[in-house]
Amino acid sequence: MVSRVIPVDPFDLVIFGGTGDLARRKILPGLFRRFCAGQMPEGSQIIGAARSEMDDSEYREMVSDAVAEFGGGRTCEAGTLEAFLATVSYVTTDAKGDGGWVDLNGKMREDRVRAFYFSVGPSLFGDLAERLHRFGLATPESRIVVEKPFGHDLETAKALNATLAQHFDETQIYRIDHYLGKETVQNLMAVRFGNMLFEPLWNAQYVDHIQITVAETVGVGGRGAYYDHSGAMRDMVQNHLMQLLCLIAMEPPAKFDPNAVRDEKLKVIRALEPVDWHHIVRGQYGADENGQSYREDVEDPKSRTESFIAMKCHISNWRWAGTPFYLRTGKRLKARASEIAVVFKDAPHSIFGADAGRHRNVLAIRLQPNEGMTLDVTIKEPGPGGMRLLDVPLDMSFAEALGPDAEEATEAYERLIMDVIRGNQTLFMRGDEVEAAWAWTDPLIEGWQARNDVPKQYDPGSSGPEDALMLMHRDGRKWREVKA
Ligand code: BG6
Repeated sequence: MVSRVIPVDPFDLVIFGGTGDLARRKILPGLFRRFCAGQMPEGSQIIGAARSEMDDSEYREMVSDAVAEFGGGRTCEAGTLEAFLATVSYVTTDAKGDGGWVDLNGKMREDRVRAFYFSVGPSLFGDLAERLHRFGLATPESRIVVEKPFGHDLETAKALNATLAQHFDETQIYRIDHYLGKETVQNLMAVRFGNMLFEPLWNAQYVDHIQITVAETVGVGGRGAYYDHSGAMRDMVQNHLMQLLCLIAMEPPAKFDPNAVRDEKLKVIRALEPVDWHHIVRGQYGADENGQSYREDVEDPKSRTESFIAMKCHISNWRWAGTPFYLRTGKRLKARASEIAVVFKDAPHSIFGADAGRHRNVLAIRLQPNEGMTLDVTIKEPGPGGMRLLDVPLDMSFAEALGPDAEEATEAYERLIMDVIRGNQTLFMRGDEVEAAWAWTDPLIEGWQARNDVPKQYDPGSSGPEDALMLMHRDGRKWREVKA
């Protein structure tokens, strides 16, 4: 198998917040990797823009350090880093004032794709959008890229959409959810719509339930102030888990085209039923052996924000009526493991009698780490002793099946930035999708706030609070083990 690099047109990419954490960790190292892969065409340039006073050479030094620290150790031909740095420059720019904008405009070229990455807090989106127009940088073809959190609730998301819409058309706005850029997340669509095997069974008649788990071992780290204001629901469910749910549950789009795919995702979000509060479990990690707890991490001894959430959801449509979707995500859990498991129903009648026990097929798609798929199939236990049944996995690790190409797989940010340059919005959230997602999550959050709900404590390194296990037990079901 040969990996393919699809060429893109030469571009001018301005990164607002060019000295920030996201730029250093993800955007700049990602661009470097694309440069190594030969995908950044000659004549392209990257312009860092931020408030700090620095010149081109100081910025290049910062970029070089970022690539060394976060570039994933990718080895490129000698001299590649220098060639990459030659495409990079910097303009001190004041998002709230007039400083730097004329200089920035002077750097833009007529015959290049123009993209402006807003790697800044949402409070600056409006200021940047307005200045891009006022100073003549925005053209009808230029694109802006905005990061999550896209709003804090429906009202703020609507306001952000309205602000951006004053200056840019929806086709110019690229709202990033980096989960959509993950290789395996796109594989969900390939598995569902590229195979004949699964789709006929992909419905309430054959599927008992679906589990979506995104477990992390990290805590809130240095992001306490942001996180404590958000919690797992806003930070992970409203966006990443919701996107996974959409890709697993949506109807087949007629084609792999931005609006066809996003229309189908939107229908799923709109068909989500409100969740009964008995079906939501919120958790917060307690102290580890060093006494470090969530409340310590966020420096609020009374915080009621959840670092874990598990919930049972239903989608009211013909395909899924009656099939529960169990979602869970949390920090400081026992392993970093994300997977989607489609648990099929029992065979309607067992010819092997009661002794054969209960067996069911499970298709598990592992998103990270060790991306791959397993399908549990029931077989006869080998040897004498009658017809005893056993579930064994057909196990496929993408790394093993695809060899070095899988290891070289592009990271989410690299792929998404190249999609922006290409003008392909398929893997970006549309404004109405984001609003629909908030319209579903807002009442749930308001519900637990009104009840003064206190999250259940769980031990760091565990699978979350006991109540989350009970959520499944009560239904005669069981979470899959959280393991890497
Ligand atoms: C981010 C969240 O969007 O996704 C973080 O804000 C979370 O809290 C991260 O840790 C998880 O991303 P990944 O790619 O490591 O699974």
